Amino acid sequence: MFQLGWFGNLTAPEWAPSPTSPYVTDDATTWMDGRFYIDQARNLERAGFDFLMLEDSLMVPDMYRGTSEMALKHARYAPKLDPVVAASMLAYATEHIGIICTASTTFYNPYQLARQFATLDHLTRGRIGWNMVTSSEDRAAQNFGMERLPEHDLRYEMADEFKRCVEALWMSWDEDAIVADPDTGYYADFTKVHRADFEGRFYSSRGPLNVPRSPQGTPVYCQAGGSPKGRDFAAKHTDLILNIPIGVEGMKEFRNDIRRRAEGFGRNPDDIKVFWVVLPIIGETEAEAKAIEQAWADAKDYNFEINMAHFEATQEIDMSQFDPDKPLPDDVTTNGHQSTLANTKKAWGDKTIREAASESSRITSIPLVGTADQVAERMGEVAEEVGGDGFLIYNQPMSRHYIASITDGLAPALRRRGLIRTGFKHQHLRDNLRDFA
Ligand SMILES: Cc1cc2nc3c(=O)[nH]c(=O)nc-3n(C[C@H](O)[C@H](O)[C@H](O)COP(=O)(O)O)c2cc1C
Repeated sequence: MFQLGWFGNLTAPEWAPSPTSPYVTDDATTWMDGRFYIDQARNLERAGFDFLMLEDSLMVPDMYRGTSEMALKHARYAPKLDPVVAASMLAYATEHIGIICTASTTFYNPYQLARQFATLDHLTRGRIGWNMVTSSEDRAAQNFGMERLPEHDLRYEMADEFKRCVEALWMSWDEDAIVADPDTGYYADFTKVHRADFEGRFYSSRGPLNVPRSPQGTPVYCQAGGSPKGRDFAAKHTDLILNIPIGVEGMKEFRNDIRRRAEGFGRNPDDIKVFWVVLPIIGETEAEAKAIEQAWADAKDYNFEINMAHFEATQEIDMSQFDPDKPLPDDVTTNGHQSTLANTKKAWGDKTIREAASESSRITSIPLVGTADQVAERMGEVAEEVGGDGFLIYNQPMSRHYIASITDGLAPALRRRGLIRTGFKHQHLRDNLRDFA
């Protein structure tokens, strides 16, 4: 058995026909009221998804050719809603599914973040997770009054301290601090509410937090770093890791590496769940699924533009500065997602930028193309071979049509094979994640 997660973007759903959906709905202009995402969350919960991960970033990219055209034309990386705020609405509309919100350790303030996530853990009755990101853009830094983003490895050091600071705040209320004693008249026992007195190199906070201890104590910790520093951070601190290694061999290598690092930090590797990012294409017939895949491969201009938007947003590289008819120069570097750039260099090899960037804009660890039954079968085989814990399903732009192909096509086919859950045993996300592997 394995688990299912959903890579959610609080951004514009399908506004034009795309390879994964021929339909255009009103959602493209009304998504900002959150109703589309409530429907999505309820469908995922019904289908047996363990969690919905809400990604985030904090800027409108405008590197490519010096304008925001690419990002805004394709609604990539902007616009988007704040996941921490939206999570509260999604929680009220659901009962079991975990909700994992992305929040930046580089830009947020520890006390504020500790308060928000403790609040969310209460409001969800223990279903909240925190996707810890260090952010990757000078543009975001400039939105927060800084000139530049701190350097890549330093950001992970800051994140390490940030996490210790918020944990000190979350622990500032003992579990039994609330007595609500009708005889003595005491609500909370002040001897069980302590100052945090956290003093670090980058952050300090006095505490105590003004939110009582939350149901899970701490949110489920999630992370998606791929560089050596990122992998160490993930292996040391998280319950859940998201990654996109390419192919079954890449998946095995990644998982073994994380488990080895976790042991090195004195942790039980089984307490860390690794999820692979995949983009299943489900057709009513195998031929239909293959036609969708082909349509995607044929959309060369679209793929090129999406890749340009991806580079500017995640690596702050303006690809228009290079000759598109030559390979990506060797000496390109980034202060953003370093592992993404390294993987791209490897995958593109000697191809020209135009050729490589036009080939594909699909993000997936393994190809999953076919009928619901065929894809379910393949996911079962890969999970068996790699020993992974779950799959994180990603597609963009999102549509009700695509969601239905997963929640009402793929998920039932997985369940018929006994591969995914039939219900939720526990109230808390962390307990459900550890239910089985
Ligand atoms: C599945 C997945 C989801 C991610 N979500 C976010 C996100 O929401 N916000 C963000 O700033 N970075 C996000 N990232 C980027 C990672 O946090 C990390 O910066 C990136 O994978 C590069 O890691 P590295 O800097 O260790 O090389 C995501 C990465 C992956 C693989």
